[in-house]
Amino acid sequence: MEAAESNILGQNTSLADVFRTLRKVAPTDSTVLVTGESGTGKELLVRALHRLSPRRDNAFVPINCGAIPAELLESELFGHEKGAFTHAVRTRPGRFEMAEGGTVFLDEIGEMNISLQVKILRVLQEREIERVGGLGAKKVDVRVVAATNRNLEEEVSAGRFREDLYYRLNVIPLHLPALRERGEDVILLAEYFLRRFCAKKKRSVLNIDPETRRILEIYPWPGNVRELENLAERLSVLCDGDSINIADLPDKIRSVACAAADLPPRSSPPRASPRSGFPWPTLADLRERNMGLKEYIDTAEEKLLLEALELAQGVKNQAAELLGIKRTTLIEKLKKRNME
Ligand SMILES: Nc1ncnc2c1ncn2[C@@H]1O[C@H](COP(=O)(O)OP(=O)(O)OP(=O)(O)O)[C@@H](O)[C@H]1O
Ligand SMILES: [Mg+2]
Repeated sequence: MEAAESNILGQNTSLADVFRTLRKVAPTDSTVLVTGESGTGKELLVRALHRLSPRRDNAFVPINCGAIPAELLESELFGHEKGAFTHAVRTRPGRFEMAEGGTVFLDEIGEMNISLQVKILRVLQEREIERVGGLGAKKVDVRVVAATNRNLEEEVSAGRFREDLYYRLNVIPLHLPALRERGEDVILLAEYFLRRFCAKKKRSVLNIDPETRRILEIYPWPGNVRELENLAERLSVLCDGDSINIADLPDKIRSVACAAADLPPRSSPPRASPRSGFPWPTLADLRERNMGLKEYIDTAEEKLLLEALELAQGVKNQAAELLGIKRTTLIEKLKKRNME
């Protein structure tokens, strides 16, 4: 990677495609929509996009649409005139005006309410904004980049996101793959973060032993790069030896990865044929538990739903992905069980 992108690490081919598009689109003023699960590096990518663009010497203005209450967001984005509402004691420019000549980053755009979506569409089409309580439109020269971890097509079909805005934003889509889809990048990133945190703590760099390496490769990383970064920091503080072994890993990672590989949690060394011994249920299992087929399957399903939800920390999109089902199917299943 070149200097401006050098803090986005990765060699996987799926990421190489993203970098290629990034380099092509950065010099233009096209609107870009970055998608990807939480923690995949969307913000890092958008900052690189700004740095690689001719707007680099002007402002980069991020705004988290999900973190600002809906009733304040409009005035935050577009500013307001004195007296526009009760607490508007003075005129205040909004973030779009502050970004003049630069880039506005609309983070978590999927959280924005429909009425404000209309106004964003207008900015994108007319290149002008109107302050709350203002008397007229004002031209702005900004590039808009948006990001979301929601599936906007699904949001559009559910009527929560305007279709016209979706198409207007999605001129150049950039999708960041989940960490579990990046193969060898997991280890590359783990070693990078360990080097960084160990240097910061002024200790010699921790090695990752082969068994632990395998666990890190199998674990599905629901929190993506952020989760891996946090783990590396934690290990740089808590790990006593020169090398990280399985016992240093949090229980959650160990047990989930072992379950995925069908290994006993503390086995060493790992078994050669991981899927050979799956314990399929037999009729004796049903009899033993005094269960019918439906009850048995329902119970098994409920256990898997709970595990996925816990692993995804309640984020339904991710839980659904871990289970290999649609988000809507997951929600249906949870509703049926009053587990929502
Ligand atoms: N490819 C990468 N190389 C190095 N660091 C990365 C990479 N991707 C992400 N990171 C780091 O991981 C953390 C999370 O990244 P970032 O905040 O950009 O994710 P995000 O997709 O915006 O997450 P969220 O949806 O939760 O806002 C940051 O500390 C970032 O620096
Ligand atoms: Mg982010």
